[in-house]
Amino acid sequence: MRQWNCTGHRGIERHARTRKSILDGVTEGRRFYLDLMQKCIINSVYEDPNQGFWSPTVFASQARDLGRDWPLKAHRMIGNRRMSNLRQMTEYVIANNIPGDFIETGVWRGGACIMARAIMKAYGVTDRRVWVAGSFCGLPAPNPKYEADATTSITHFRNWRCRSEEVKSNSSKYDLLDDQVVFLKGWFGKPCPMPTSTACRFCASTATCMKSTTDGLTNLYDKVSGGGFVMILGWSKGTNGP
Ligand SMILES: C[S@@+](CC[C@H](N)C(=O)[O-])C[C@H]1O[C@@H](n2cnc3c(N)ncnc32)[C@H](O)[C@@H]1O
Repeated sequence: MRQWNCTGHRGIERHARTRKSILDGVTEGRRFYLDLMQKCIINSVYEDPNQGFWSPTVFASQARDLGRDWPLKAHRMIGNRRMSNLRQMTEYVIANNIPGDFIETGVWRGGACIMARAIMKAYGVTDRRVWVAGSFCGLPAPNPKYEADATTSITHFRNWRCRSEEVKSNSSKYDLLDDQVVFLKGWFGKPCPMPTSTACRFCASTATCMKSTTDGLTNLYDKVSGGGFVMILGWSKGTNGP
């Protein structure tokens, strides 16, 4: 008791200041980790070049920022701004206790799912999963029913065929492959490889074609409830580029 009195107000204030600076440090460390993850995933660190098609085969920071190039090495192609959007939504869901998992339909090299898992890790979230859904063998053939896909020559781009083993390997490079990450392999339009049990309250679709985007949304719509988000992060009409 005497010792406590001895510490007095100054001790309590000092304790509160220490606690605040520890908490500030945790927040700053988390922000720093997630900023770094984002830079690594979009590869603004090593600045790998664009693969061409619509623009020159060089690294252009504005194109990478806007997601208007197809990176040779980076683990994702939607660029910095849409990645920030995904991060903002995911952090919002966690901060506001909106229940549910994260799903991306159409993952390519897996960067968005890796980022979502990193955010969960940074916030100590252990009761949400990341569903990694895709064919893992490229885009389906254009469906004549969907006019918007009729001229989609991107269907044939071989480098969009990223196998699940490669996505797993990418995730494990960041130490983010664990049992909170679930792979769903198959075409969205078929008996759909979608989560059956859990409510997926926030999801991102980057499937590119109109049909694939529609199939993903149709299958997931009932699983997105109030407070959750659907992000259409990658869709383009015809061959005009992402
Ligand atoms: C443009 S890439 C995704 C880009 C990725 N989200 C990124 O930002 O790096 C499209 C992906 O969706 C997948 N995909 C497209 N349509 C699909 C479908 N109907 N069923 C399953 N996977 C599909 C392809 O395999 C491909 O990996």
